[in-house]
Amino acid sequence: MSREHFSSRSTAVLAMAGSAIGLGNIWRFPYMVGENGGAAFILVYLLATLLLSLPIFFSESIIGRATHQGTIGAMKALAPGTAWRHMGLLTVLSPLIILSFYSVVGGWSVEYLLKSLTFDFQGATQEDLGAAFGGFISSTWGPLVCHTVFLSLCALIILAGVKKGIEQFSKYTMPLLFLLIVVIMVYSLSLPGASEGVKYLLKPDFSRLKASSVAAAMGQSFFSLSLGVGTILTYSSYIRTEENLLSSGVGTAAFDLGFALIAGFAVMPAVFAAGIAPGAGPGLLFETLPYIFSKMGMNLPWLSSLVAVLLFVTVLVAALTSAISMFEVGVTFLVEERGVKRSRATGLIFLGTWALGCLCSLSFGPLDGIRLFGKNIFGFCDALTANFLMTFGGLLFTLFVGWKMKKEQVRDEFTCGGQLRFSARIFPAVYFLIRWIAPAVILLIFVTNLLL
Ligand code: TRP
Repeated sequence: MSREHFSSRSTAVLAMAGSAIGLGNIWRFPYMVGENGGAAFILVYLLATLLLSLPIFFSESIIGRATHQGTIGAMKALAPGTAWRHMGLLTVLSPLIILSFYSVVGGWSVEYLLKSLTFDFQGATQEDLGAAFGGFISSTWGPLVCHTVFLSLCALIILAGVKKGIEQFSKYTMPLLFLLIVVIMVYSLSLPGASEGVKYLLKPDFSRLKASSVAAAMGQSFFSLSLGVGTILTYSSYIRTEENLLSSGVGTAAFDLGFALIAGFAVMPAVFAAGIAPGAGPGLLFETLPYIFSKMGMNLPWLSSLVAVLLFVTVLVAALTSAISMFEVGVTFLVEERGVKRSRATGLIFLGTWALGCLCSLSFGPLDGIRLFGKNIFGFCDALTANFLMTFGGLLFTLFVGWKMKKEQVRDEFTCGGQLRFSARIFPAVYFLIRWIAPAVILLIFVTNLLL
């Protein structure tokens, strides 16, 4: 069977960046930075991206491109009859758990889009805005309805088969989102008191780094690049054999990192200008942006409303493109491995993630009392995936490439049979990272974090 391929390297990078860039960059990165003390966390995050995420990225793309198959097929092809085929389960379960709480945050963006359409932020004080957000997420019905709307949109896109259309569409909205974040960053930097925020992002204070921050930085990096769950593996299976895996990995990581950093510089100065606590948690983005819009509105009301509406629309599109790729993994699994009809599979995945998402949503309000390892249900699902399942998956992928695959095959894949000179020159270093450094460091951080 002949398989489709990305038409060029830049298409592959754009597609992978499309999956990677999402709420992880705009919503999760700024609040993680705020919870873990700022610049020092960013440094650890950069290090984790270089030493751990890139090797996992290369591992997944080597496996995917070598077999031109998804995770389960790739494992069956490279390691027939071994326990490696169970990797498939991890790659189906993790995205679905992520989707459950992702959809809750997607729902918050739906609500905030509606608010900006009705000029809700204009003239409100910081107290009003903070109270409005807290009141909203801890209420029962509003967030549940929004979560349902977001997840239904995903299901409809999958059912209607317009997934390709949405992905094409996101090619145009992504640059718009980038532009808007830059506009917001510039405005945020101009607010009185913003310089404290800049200092917070640039001047590392290692005493503010908590013991758990290293694991959190690693988890954030994996989350943001969609690593450890077979997504990059599957995307890479569509990359042509003659393309350069080194540059598609570095290219995707650079896009993703750039986006996250700009979001950090858009949010944090305004956090300090508004006097919000940087460690406010998952609500940080939604408490800060309205403040920026209300300030903007004092000088330029129409521009403020326009930017607010455009921003929440594009955030929603970015969230949707990431969310449908998680949804699709589950649907494909049920259709191809279990012989379920596509419409039925979509319904089943919808119900499962909707139910878990409802629990996540309610865990900010009526179910706040339920604590798992000290976290509410939402925080638990988030930490379970980012700090545990994705990390574990990443570890397994590097071990597979470093120890199970033949070194020659890995080298051939990475260097296109030796034709790519630069890749060939740095291959020993990359291989060393994949075989030794990444697994050892991940394991160390993982175990330390479990014991803490
Ligand atoms: N990287 C995505 C983001 O930053 C979220 C994500 C995590 C994801 N794991 C994934 C997306 C798996 C698709 C598949 O928002």
